[in-house]
Amino acid sequence: MDALLTVRAALILLLFSFLKISYSSSPPPSQQIQILSAERRIDLTSPIVRVFLTLKVENIGSSPASEILLAFPPDQAEHLALTKAASIEGKRKKKTVVALPINPTELPNTPNGAKLLSISLLKPLNTGETMTLEVLLILTHSQEPFPAEISQSESQFVYYRDSALLLSPYPIREQGTFIKMSSSKVESFTRVDPTNHVGTELKYGPYGDHPPYSFSPIIVHFENNHPFAVVEELVREVEISHWGSLQITEHYELIHAGAKHKGIFSRVEYQSRPSISGVSSFKHLLARLPPRVHSVYYRDEIGNISTSHLRSDTRKSELEIEPRYPLFGGWKATFIIGYGLPLQDFLFESSDGRRYLNFSFGCPLAETVVNKLTIKVVLPEGSKEPSAEVPFQVEQHLETSYSYLDVVGRTVVVLKKENVVPEHSIPFQVYYKFSPISMLAEPLMLISAFFLFFVACITYLHLDLSIRKS
Ligand SMILES: *[C@@H]1O[C@H](CO)[C@@H](O)[C@H](O)[C@H]1NC(C)=O
Ligand SMILES: *[C@@H]1O[C@H](CO)[C@@H](O)[C@H](O)[C@H]1NC(C)=O
Repeated sequence: MDALLTVRAALILLLFSFLKISYSSSPPPSQQIQILSAERRIDLTSPIVRVFLTLKVENIGSSPASEILLAFPPDQAEHLALTKAASIEGKRKKKTVVALPINPTELPNTPNGAKLLSISLLKPLNTGETMTLEVLLILTHSQEPFPAEISQSESQFVYYRDSALLLSPYPIREQGTFIKMSSSKVESFTRVDPTNHVGTELKYGPYGDHPPYSFSPIIVHFENNHPFAVVEELVREVEISHWGSLQITEHYELIHAGAKHKGIFSRVEYQSRPSISGVSSFKHLLARLPPRVHSVYYRDEIGNISTSHLRSDTRKSELEIEPRYPLFGGWKATFIIGYGLPLQDFLFESSDGRRYLNFSFGCPLAETVVNKLTIKVVLPEGSKEPSAEVPFQVEQHLETSYSYLDVVGRTVVVLKKENVVPEHSIPFQVYYKFSPISMLAEPLMLISAFFLFFVACITYLHLDLSIRKS
């Protein structure tokens, strides 16, 4: 018995030592890669935060590296709407940009729960080699209005929180951060010398050597009167009719997500002193629609809203809409925009004989964040095997809807995504199989109905129902 136990213990020990070996075979990231220089440009001119990072990395490990990691504080990771990465090859005029896949990843025990993204390199970076990476990060809901409530005559100020040092799992030899604001009115900013404020730009750095996961919190408090337009929920319905048109209906729930309006609203003051009254409010919105749009309407629960202007050329259409009242902080507006589009611009046939819709994802309103977006593509009756191809992660499922004369109902491909920014307005496709015979179903049904009706009439006219004495 004792012998058995000893053997068991020995086995367990052996197993553990194996685990330890396999675990320690990959060195911590900080011993593999170092960042020679990091430049960060943070654009705070609109409510959407865009961070442009340029990193020059070097492999200082003993084996080739196939990925580069980026680190984020957990609260920032939550607000990440979109990330893009590319490697830069060649210099100046011969410069080529190669897009790289970027995905969330995890490592055990990152300090303060830092979240990680991994950029996969197309070809490994060998020991001693360097490369340049460009990264775009888009963050939403990252500027906090302070004061949280303002009156009609006040400007809107916001807080932006970040770190003067770029959070990274690697040591950084040299770095600098440039923050671009929408206004030169800066109430305050954290100093981490050297720090420089000139006009609308704040510069942090250059800073020398810093170990992995260095962090130095900063707060910038500045004026930002850019409209904080947020669509809390947007439902876009795209209905395909093989009889020649694409009908789009968009339901908007819009809110001004900036500092809340306090006190009373004076329309007289608003109209007579537009430069200082309600500067953070907005009364126009611009929707960018495809060219050749027709039958445009704009309405809310009360009825049609007449204040909209459509400008169209061969490349795009711009619809300027004006809600019934200007929107101040915390105020909401719900409305519907509808339009028709020529089918041949968006519906194609793929090489395998399937049909596909090629349409733009995202929200047509300019520089607007959408908290919850749903796109419903209503396929013609009789469509089979629908499948959607979207260039980023979305939640999808199928539904069935019925409209006039539908017998089996139409398949609806439903796509859902949260935290949508203008950069998500790129084409997606919905493929499906369709036999032209099903197109004839409805007309045939109508024809047979009419035919039966006439037959009935004729029979009725030829019937002699009168009671006559013979
Ligand atoms: C609203 O506008 C649309 C398109 O311009 C029009 O067809 C419709 O009759 C209008 N409805 C009302 C109630 O005015
Ligand atoms: C979809 O349309 C865009 C232009 O709007 C075009 O660049 C792209 O190639 C199209 N995609 C497919 C699969 O047809």
